[in-house]
Amino acid sequence: MINLPENAPFDDAQRGALSELLGGCSAEQRSWLGSYLAGDSKAGGTAGRGNSLTVLYGTESGNSETLAARTAKLAKASGLKARLYDMAETKPGDLAQASALLVVVSTWGEGDPPEGTEEYYRTFMAGGIDLSGLRYSVCALGDTSYEHFCKIGKDFDHQLEKLGAQRVAPRADCDVEFEETYQEWVEGALKALGAGVAVDSSAATPEPVVKGQEYGKKNPFPSKVLEKVLLNGPGTKKETWHLELSLDGSGLSYAVGDSLAVVPTNAGDVVQSLLDAAGMSGEEEVESKLSGKKGLREALTSDYDITALSRKVAKAWQRHSGSVELAELLGDENKEKFKKWIWGRQVMDLLREFPAEKTEGQQLVDMFRTLPPRLYSIASSPREHEGEVHLTVAAVRYESNGFQRKGVASTCLADMVEEGDLVPVFVTPNKRFRLPESDAVPIIMVGPGTGVAPFRAFVEDRATRDGSGPSWLIFGDQHFTYDFLYQLEWQDHLKSGALTKLDVAFSRDQREKIYVQDRIREKADEIWQWLEEGAHFYVCGDASRMAPDVHGALLEAIAKEGGRSAEEAEAYLAELKKNGRYQRDVY
Ligand SMILES: Cc1cc2nc3c(=O)[nH]c(=O)nc-3n(C[C@H](O)[C@H](O)[C@H](O)COP(=O)(O)OP(=O)(O)OC[C@H]3O[C@@H](n4cnc5c(N)ncnc54)[C@H](O)[C@@H]3O)c2cc1C
Ligand SMILES: NC(=O)c1ccc[n+]([C@@H]2O[C@H](COP(=O)([O-])OP(=O)(O)OC[C@H]3O[C@@H](n4cnc5c(N)ncnc54)[C@H](OP(=O)(O)O)[C@@H]3O)[C@@H](O)[C@H]2O)c1
Ligand SMILES: Cc1cc2nc3c(=O)[nH]c(=O)nc-3n(C[C@H](O)[C@H](O)[C@H](O)COP(=O)(O)O)c2cc1C
Repeated sequence: MINLPENAPFDDAQRGALSELLGGCSAEQRSWLGSYLAGDSKAGGTAGRGNSLTVLYGTESGNSETLAARTAKLAKASGLKARLYDMAETKPGDLAQASALLVVVSTWGEGDPPEGTEEYYRTFMAGGIDLSGLRYSVCALGDTSYEHFCKIGKDFDHQLEKLGAQRVAPRADCDVEFEETYQEWVEGALKALGAGVAVDSSAATPEPVVKGQEYGKKNPFPSKVLEKVLLNGPGTKKETWHLELSLDGSGLSYAVGDSLAVVPTNAGDVVQSLLDAAGMSGEEEVESKLSGKKGLREALTSDYDITALSRKVAKAWQRHSGSVELAELLGDENKEKFKKWIWGRQVMDLLREFPAEKTEGQQLVDMFRTLPPRLYSIASSPREHEGEVHLTVAAVRYESNGFQRKGVASTCLADMVEEGDLVPVFVTPNKRFRLPESDAVPIIMVGPGTGVAPFRAFVEDRATRDGSGPSWLIFGDQHFTYDFLYQLEWQDHLKSGALTKLDVAFSRDQREKIYVQDRIREKADEIWQWLEEGAHFYVCGDASRMAPDVHGALLEAIAKEGGRSAEEAEAYLAELKKNGRYQRDVY
């Protein structure tokens, strides 16, 4: 007799009939069917849940994908049947097939799912699947300097529990230096899932993807600056740099749409301000997490994130300083107050406002995480500039809380790097920001400010081939006279036909602000026509204001010109996204 659970929807007679029917099955077949039916016995069911481990990832810049691939490899080496799935290419309903699940997922924007995984996330969070019987654990990737640290991983973890799945190992919340936390998690999770052999997570470090590409996050390539040009003209309020870097001898390759990660160093005056705030000379010797024994000043300059102020750093400083006021500010009841206080402040403000009596060099560096690399959209086509990679970098400078501030990486490139210098870099692929496979497919590119960078690469790339399809660039910046980035190149491309249409929105050339989305609204009929002809729609640049506004204008255009309701326009755009025809690279 098949061992059905008590709540299985069969009466005694049916159980008997089933037993008879299956009498001819072997014990193994009966046992398999028993588990199958047991899984199927609940509404919404876990039918078909096999004996396999699903490793599911959601990624934007590739970290979660790399870790998920390592997890699957380790699981296989430990005797588990493991399959790797990308949230962008699968549906939550497929989880019904798995008996065990490991999720690796990052958080983007302001607590948002990675680009391309929004639909998966929305559907999954809406519930409606019964995952009882599923054993799982989550590895969340994030950055402690963001307010919603690891939010998406946390959401998955809570929702899995809510849907009845059983957490077998605690969630790991990884900061930008995720290696150690990941290793601990994967070892614990695989053991809890009953991996057959001992797990050695370091054994699954992925092989280099391409022979000779030994340069990567752990070993950035020292790339020579070939050219550095300020793109804005005299009189501008902007500071946008064009940099050309050499990849000669690196074995590194890239595709248009990828980003380049730059490993910066902190500026001397910023290090000095921190040392002053801590009351230290910088000559103290410390053990650096990255590079062993060295002077404090040197360690702070090249190894540590000494500016980004997070709750984690504030808590560490409170424990060291013993400040009662800081403890109060960090109290659970003061979360909103802390959020306001932290805005525009950096670590040096923390040290100034809540001084400690005495600080040792080692105590100071132990508070910090290592200096994270920054990504820049690649602005060149490798076909056009063999062995080179070009960037378009806006220097971040602002005043806050009475002090002049500067972005670490952008001003490292703007102020500290000259032609001939070496900059440590590695390539970060972005599979979801790609030209259509066919050059005949029309493309619409919306890229204000530095958002234009990848479109320089797109148009250059198409220009190297014959028979390019229609391409339309919608660019915006503050002033036509000073801020028309790569103006002459666009004019050349228009002449040659590599670019077929150019619209511009200079926001400060008139009293009223004009932005790229205003051009989309004005030309809604043409946008609609291009979309109906199969165009791919790309957006790059500011994530917080521009990208949502462009999204809204695009929805309006679809609704108005396509004669659709707001919901139908949303569905139309969601379909474009699903088919890779609406792609964004926003930051
Ligand atoms: C996929 C991707 C592609 C990118 N491509 C490009 C590109 O092509 N070109 C480009 O220039 N950038 C690009 N960026 C952004 C880039 O990675 C960096 O984030 C940017 O250069 C700032 O880094 P930073 O080290 O100079 O500044 P940080 O030291 O990281 O400082 C930035 C922080 O300073 C604070 N801040 C900034 N302005 C203010 C203000 N006015 N008031 C208060 N606080 C403020 C904010 O907390 C902000 O997060 C891209 C990012 C991603 C993720
Ligand atoms: N506070 C910050 O942290 C801060 C500030 C600036 C840039 N950034 C970052 O640096 C990146 C690159 O900056 P960038 O100088 O190249 O470009 P940018 O600041 O995005 O500016 C490019 C153009 O976009 C306009 N713009 C402003 N708001 C917009 C909106 N809601 N919709 C459409 N266009 C809008 C700007 O106009 P106006 O300038 O006239 O409004 C300007 O003409 C940004 O994407 C952002 O991530 C950060
Ligand atoms: C523009 C931007 C926004 C981000 N937003 C968040 C956030 O809200 N919360 C968080 O914990 N991490 C945030 N991160 C950090 C990423 O989650 C982190 O870099 C992660 O390692 C990326 O993993 P992925 O490559 O798999 O996408 C953000 C990173 C960038 C560049």
